[in-house]
Amino acid sequence: MDMSISRRQLSLAALVAMATSAAPSLAVAAPSLAYAFSGKLLFGFAVTPEQLDGGLATELIERHSSVLVAENAMKPDALAGKGEGIYDFATADRVVAFAAARGIKVRGHTLLWHRQMPEWFFRDGAEEVNRATLISRIERYIADVVGHFKGRVFAWDVVNEALVADEPGTAVDAAGLRLSPLRDIVGPEFIEIAFRAAARADPGALLFYNDYETQNPRKVALISALVRHLRERGVKIDGIGHQAHCSMAHPMVHDFERAIDQYGALGLIQHITELDIALNQQLMENLVSAATPALLQRQSQRYADLVNLFLRKRDKVHALLVWGLSDANSWLTSWPMPRFEAPLLFDAQLQPKPAFEAVLRAARQAR
Ligand code: XIL
Repeated sequence: MDMSISRRQLSLAALVAMATSAAPSLAVAAPSLAYAFSGKLLFGFAVTPEQLDGGLATELIERHSSVLVAENAMKPDALAGKGEGIYDFATADRVVAFAAARGIKVRGHTLLWHRQMPEWFFRDGAEEVNRATLISRIERYIADVVGHFKGRVFAWDVVNEALVADEPGTAVDAAGLRLSPLRDIVGPEFIEIAFRAAARADPGALLFYNDYETQNPRKVALISALVRHLRERGVKIDGIGHQAHCSMAHPMVHDFERAIDQYGALGLIQHITELDIALNQQLMENLVSAATPALLQRQSQRYADLVNLFLRKRDKVHALLVWGLSDANSWLTSWPMPRFEAPLLFDAQLQPKPAFEAVLRAARQAR
C-alpha cells in the first residue's frame, strides 16, 4: 500500500481538525473510503479547483481519495479556449499538484468529446475547418496536453461519448457513431487518430474510451467492435470507462455485470468513471422534490448493490470515481433540466449520507 496515503488517512489529523475547526466535523472524523478500498479499488471524486483551496471539502477529498479527476478543468474548452497552441494549464496544474503532494492518482478527462470543445477548433476564419487542418489540430492538441501531463496523469479518457445506441433523436451514422464536427469533418478515423496521438505523447498512460449507458447490450456491441477495430489496426487502447450515471431503477445490476464480463473478455481494464445515483426512478425524470429518509435509505442500498458488483469484479474493474463530492454541486441539479437531485455521498452541508456509510461498509466487507 502507498504509505503516504495510509499515513494521511489514518492520522490524527481528523481529530485535530475536529478540535480546531468551526466547520461541522462529523464528516472529517468518518473513516477514510480510500483506506477502506485500498488494495481493492482506487477510489475518489470528480473535483473542482475551488474545492482544493482549503476548508471541509478539501479535507474530505484528501481524506477519502486515492484517485481524482477534474470535473471540467481538463476539458478542451478549459485548457485551450483561447486558440490553437495557446494553453491555460494553471488551474489543471493546481489539481494535479494537489493530488501529487498527497500520493493521489489523477485521471485525465477528456481529450475529445462533442461537448466543451473550443469554437476555434472547428473554424477557419469564417469557414468550417478542412479535414487536414482538423486532423493536425487534434494531433497537436493531444500531443501538447498529454505531453504536458506526462507521468502525472496515469489514465486518459481519450474519446468520450462517440457511440450512440437506442437514442431516438440523436443523429448517428450506420456504424453507430454520433454525428458531430469531429465525425463529420474527419470521418470515423478521428478516434484512431486520437488514440495514436495519445500513445505517442505518453506511452506509459492508460488510454480509455469513456461513455454512458455502457451496460446497454447494443452499446456493448458497438464499443466492442470499436475496440476490435482499433486493435486490428495496431492502435493501443487499454480500457473502458463506465460513466455509470444511474437512477434508482436504471440500470439493472445484472445488466452491468454482464457488460463488465463482456468488456473483460476483450482483455480490457475498466474504470467506473462518473458514478452518481439520482433519486428519481429513471435517469431523466424530475418527480422527486425532497431527500426523505426513506429515499436516502433506498439510495444507500442502491449504492451498496452497485459498489458490491464493482468490488466483486475487481479483477476487471480497477477504479471507482463518484461524479462530485456533495449534493451541493452535482451536475444533475441542472441536467437535463433544473431539478432536485441528491445523487452523491455527502449532503449539501458536506455531511456523510447513508450512501456514504453503505459504500464504506461494502469496501470494508469485500473479501
Ligand atoms: C459535466 C460536468 O459535471 C458539468 O459541470 C459540465 O457543465 C458539463 O459536463 N459526462 C461526462 C462529463 O463525460 O464530462 C460530464 O460532466 C457529465 C456527463
